[in-house]
Amino acid sequence: MTKRFVPYGRQIIDEADIEAVAAVMRGDWLTTGPAVAQFEEAFSDFVGAQYGVAVSNGTAALHVAALAAGFGPGDEVIVAAMTFAASANMARYVGADVVFADVRSDTLTIDPNHVASLITDRTRAIVAVDFAGVPCDLDELRSLCEQHDLLLIEDACHAPGGTYRGRPIGSIADLSIFSFHPVKHLTTAEGGMVTTDSPELAERMRQYRNHGIKTDFRQREEQGTWAYDMAALGFNYRLPDLNCALGISQLAKLPDWVEARRRIAARYNTAFADFDGLRTLTEPEDRTASWHLFPVIFEGPDSAAIRASAFENMRAAGIGVNVHYLPVYLHSYYRNLGYEPGLCPVAETAYAGLLSLPMWPGLTDEEQDRVVEMVGAAVGA
Ligand SMILES: Cc1ncc(COP(=O)(O)O)c(C=O)c1O
Repeated sequence: MTKRFVPYGRQIIDEADIEAVAAVMRGDWLTTGPAVAQFEEAFSDFVGAQYGVAVSNGTAALHVAALAAGFGPGDEVIVAAMTFAASANMARYVGADVVFADVRSDTLTIDPNHVASLITDRTRAIVAVDFAGVPCDLDELRSLCEQHDLLLIEDACHAPGGTYRGRPIGSIADLSIFSFHPVKHLTTAEGGMVTTDSPELAERMRQYRNHGIKTDFRQREEQGTWAYDMAALGFNYRLPDLNCALGISQLAKLPDWVEARRRIAARYNTAFADFDGLRTLTEPEDRTASWHLFPVIFEGPDSAAIRASAFENMRAAGIGVNVHYLPVYLHSYYRNLGYEPGLCPVAETAYAGLLSLPMWPGLTDEEQDRVVEMVGAAVGA
C-alpha cells in the first residue's frame, strides 16, 4: 500500500461541520445573518475577551486593527521579524513605517529588550507574534506599552488555545489577531477574528469591515430609515454565515485538538532530546503553547546545507515539511524600502536552519516516527 502524503498541517472536517454549513445553506442568511454574531460570541468567550470581530481572513483582521488604531504616515510600528509578512504589512497598508525587532533565540518570539531599544517618540504600537504557538512575553511587552503609551497588538494566529500565566491567549493584548485558514487550529476555509476588551476599537473595526458605514441594515430597519453614512474609507471584509457556522462547529473541537498537538510536540521533543546539531523551541514554564507549527532548528556552520538536504529528502519521501519564516525584511518588497540583511541577527541565524515538521491532530504515531527517522538521518543520529 502506498503511504499517504503527510502534510505539515491541514484541516479536519467531520459530518457535524458539513451539517452545520448545510443548515445555513438551507436557511435565509448566507451572509450578514445570525451565525456571524454567534461565532463572534462563541470565539470571544472561548478566549476570554469582551468582543470578537469576525472578518474575511487574518490579514483583513490585521488591517482593520491598524485602521481602528488610527496608525498613519509618520507613525512607527515595531513588529517581530520572525513571522508571516502580513504581521508587518498591516502597518504598511495604512502608510506607517515598520521597525523590525529581533527575537529570543530559545522561543523565536519578539525580544522585549530589543523592542525597548527601538522605541522612539514616533512609535505607536508593538506587534508581537506567538511564533509556532509559543506565547510571547506579554507582561514585559505590556509594561513597555504602559510606559510609552503604545498599543499592544498580539498576532495570535499561531496560538488559539494557548495560555500565558494562566490566562487564555486572546484575552491579554489590546487587540489579538486570529486566522482560520485551513492549516490553522480551526478553520472557516478563509476567515479571521480580532478579539478585544475595548468597545471603541471593536466598533471601529466593525465599521471598517463594512465599507466604513456606521450602521448596519438591521439598525436602519429598527430606526425605519434607508439613510446611511459612509464615514470612513472602509472595505468589504465581512465573513459569511456559511464560514461562521463552520467556525462554530470547529470551535467545539478545539480543546481536544490543542491537546493532540501538545501530545505530538511532547513526542517530538522526547525523540529529539539526544540528537546533536538540532534543537526545538522552548516552551517557557509560565505558558502553554498550542503548537500551530513544530519547527526544528539545525545548528552549526552547515545548518543551511543540512536543512536544504533534509527538505529535499523528506519532500521526496512524501513528507510535507516547510520553512517558516524568512525574516520579513529580507523579502524584496522590504529590501526595496531600504531594509538590509543583518538587522535581526538572531532571526537570520535561526532561519538558516529552520524546518517545520508535520504538526496537526490527524498525524499518526507511525507517520510521526517516519518523520523522526528522517530528521535523525539528516543529523547523522
Ligand atoms: C502569523 C500570521 N499572521 C497573519 C496571517 C494571515 O492570515 P490569513 O492567511 O488568514 O490572511 C498568518 C497566516 O498565514 C500568520 O501565520
